[in-house]
Formats: sequence, C-alpha cells, structure tokens
Amino acid sequence: MSERVRIGFVGCGGIAVAHLKALVKNPYVELAAFCDVNLERAKSVSFQYGAAGAMVFNRAEEMFRNTVLDAVYICVPPFAHGAEFEAIDRGIPFFVEKPVNLFSEQAREIAAAVERKKVLTSVGYMNRYRKGVQKVKGLLSQDTPILVLGGWIGQTPRLTPEAAIYNWWIVKEKSGGQFHEQVTHTVDLVRFMCGEITEVHAYPAKGFNKGVSPNYNIEDASVVNVKLANGAVGSLWASCSANGGGGGVSLSIYAGNTTALFTGWEHSLRLLRTGVEPEEIPGEQNIFEIEDDAFIDAVRLKDASKILCPYSEGLKTLEVTLAANRSMVSGEPVRIPFK
Ligand SMILES: NC(=O)c1ccc[n+]([C@@H]2O[C@H](COP(=O)([O-])OP(=O)(O)OC[C@H]3O[C@@H](n4cnc5c(N)ncnc54)[C@H](O)[C@@H]3O)[C@@H](O)[C@H]2O)c1
Repeated sequence: MSERVRIGFVGCGGIAVAHLKALVKNPYVELAAFCDVNLERAKSVSFQYGAAGAMVFNRAEEMFRNTVLDAVYICVPPFAHGAEFEAIDRGIPFFVEKPVNLFSEQAREIAAAVERKKVLTSVGYMNRYRKGVQKVKGLLSQDTPILVLGGWIGQTPRLTPEAAIYNWWIVKEKSGGQFHEQVTHTVDLVRFMCGEITEVHAYPAKGFNKGVSPNYNIEDASVVNVKLANGAVGSLWASCSANGGGGGVSLSIYAGNTTALFTGWEHSLRLLRTGVEPEEIPGEQNIFEIEDDAFIDAVRLKDASKILCPYSEGLKTLEVTLAANRSMVSGEPVRIPFK
C-alpha cells in the first residue's frame, strides 16, 4: 500500500457524501474512484471530492477491474448489493452501509466469503462508536437489562412526482420498509448493549398515508415486540405517518439499577442510576468521521481491533429485521437462531 489508502466508492448518493465529507479530512486517504449506476452522480462527487486523476464508472466490476484500490465503500440501497463479492475476490477491505442487504441468502454468502478470505470489513452502524452507548454497554454488563423501548417516528414522505419514481425508500421490495431500513439502527444498538434478540412478533399498520406516490407500499407504522436471550423483553417501533410533530429517534433501556434514555439522531444520553447523580452525555455530531477514521486506521495498520461492527455483526442485525418483516406478513412470532 502507498502512503495513503486508495478508496473507491460504489454508490455515490446521500450517505456516500456524508462519508466523503469526513474522509476528505483524513490525511491518510486518497479518494481514487467512484462508481454509480447514475454516472452523472459519480462524476459530480468525483469532481467535488475526488483526488486528481480519480476515475468514474457506472458498473462496479469495471471499477474493480480498472483501478488499484486499498479499500472500498459500498453505499447502495438495500436491494442493490453484490459488489461485495468483487471486493472479497480481490481481498480488498470494505465498508458497507446498513442494512447490509435485503436478502438474507446473499448476505449469508457474503459473510461466508468474508470469513473464508479473512477480508477486513466494517458496517455503518455508527452509533456503536458513541461514548454514551459504550458507557451504557459497560454498565449493562453488570446490571442486566430487563425492558427496552425505542424506534424512529417521522413524517409522511413528501416527494415531488419526479423524485417519487426514483425513490427506493418508499418501495417495500427495495428498502425492506422503515423497520428494516431505519429502525435497524435501534435493533443493532439493542443487540450491542443488551445482547441477542431471540424472537420477534411484529404488527404492521398500512393504508393511512395517502397520495405519497403510486409506488408507496411500505408500512405506515409498525411495532415489533422482542425477546432477548437474557430473558428481557422490548418493543421497537417505526412510523412515517406522524405529521403532527413529536416523534423522533429514541431508545430507553431499563435495568434493575440503570435507566439509559437515548434521544435524537445523535443519541444524546440521560443516564439515571440508583444512588448516583443523573448524568448527561451529548451525542457526537461528527460520528461519521469517528467511524470512518476507525475503518481507515484498521486498513492502514492492518488491525481490525477498533472496528466495532464487522460484517458478521451486521448480518445478525439483518436477520432480526428480516424476521420482523416475515412476522408482519404471517402474524406469527418468529424465532431467530443465533450462535
Ligand atoms: N448510516 C446511516 O445513518 C445512513 C444514512 C442514510 C443512508 N444509509 C444507508 O445507505 C444506503 C444508501 O442510502 P442513500 O441515502 O445514500 O441512498 P441514495 O439513493 O441517496 O444513494 C444511493 C446511490 O446508489 C446508487 N446505486 C444504486 N444501485 C447501484 C449499483 N448497483 N451500483 C452502483 N451504484 C448504485 C444510486 O444511483 C444512488 O446514487 C442505504 O442502505 C441506507 O440505508 C445509512
């Protein structure tokens, strides 16, 4: 590897730009190649963030064939994965955005190939890197969690007719729905701080959001009751139909002597403990920078120990949200096997 980590991007949309804004600040990074099925988007981000001589492509295979890369960012919607295999075949470390896929079979194949080839990976569950989250994880290792409540509540998507045609988020067969695509962050945090989820029982609400787009077919809201391996229970929710205000992102964890109240996208923490003064830990606004620096250091130093979410972990979170989707259809509880 040269002095700098040569990076290629597959998918150059919204979250790619969030990572690019962080990566341009990292002196060890060279932004060498950009791929998007929408070539204009690849060209535009290359122009804005790319190193001199950066190359653009509209097919991932061509990017891998025609460039020498030290690491890859895969920032595509849930239905569009598969470029991971190109990276794995070449032994190139990759960062992949959450949720890691929409199809468990492909995700399991990717995880098996990662394991076989010992490829370094990182999944975009950036909240794992927050100080508040790590503090609570430590406390809960001594004080077993009993109840978890949380989720994401937002407004009805308001799209221009043109944007609605291209918007994958509102299409169940592309995003997996709000629970799979967004509340995946909350599911992952529950797993990270409280242990494995072993069973889900989900209830969808549909037919309330009108006039979004003829393509709109995700749930307007859902509630997913969960059982944890340690015997704890919880309820996690999604809504994209709350236009009156309120809502937002939250996660509350109740243990015998510890109450952790996370609020907001940034997961600011109010921590209440028996016999201890209440504590506030504000969530970090530059969390993508923190997550990206950990990945770049891992690639550079060939040391994965600071990566908090490898692909195998992203797969476990995926199994939970896909099980919730199956439960929404069947109406039955679904057990999640785990090792
Ligand atoms: N970590 C976070 O907080 C966070 C925030 C936003 C989005 N995300 C995740 O990032 C992923 C992408 O979301 P986004 O908001 O950037 O979406 P987006 O629609 O803004 O961008 C996705 C881009 O991928 C491109 N694309 C689609 N299929 C492709 C393929 N096969 N090869 C190359 N490019 C392809 C699209 O043309 C588009 O430019 C999603 O999984 C989403 O859940 C994570």
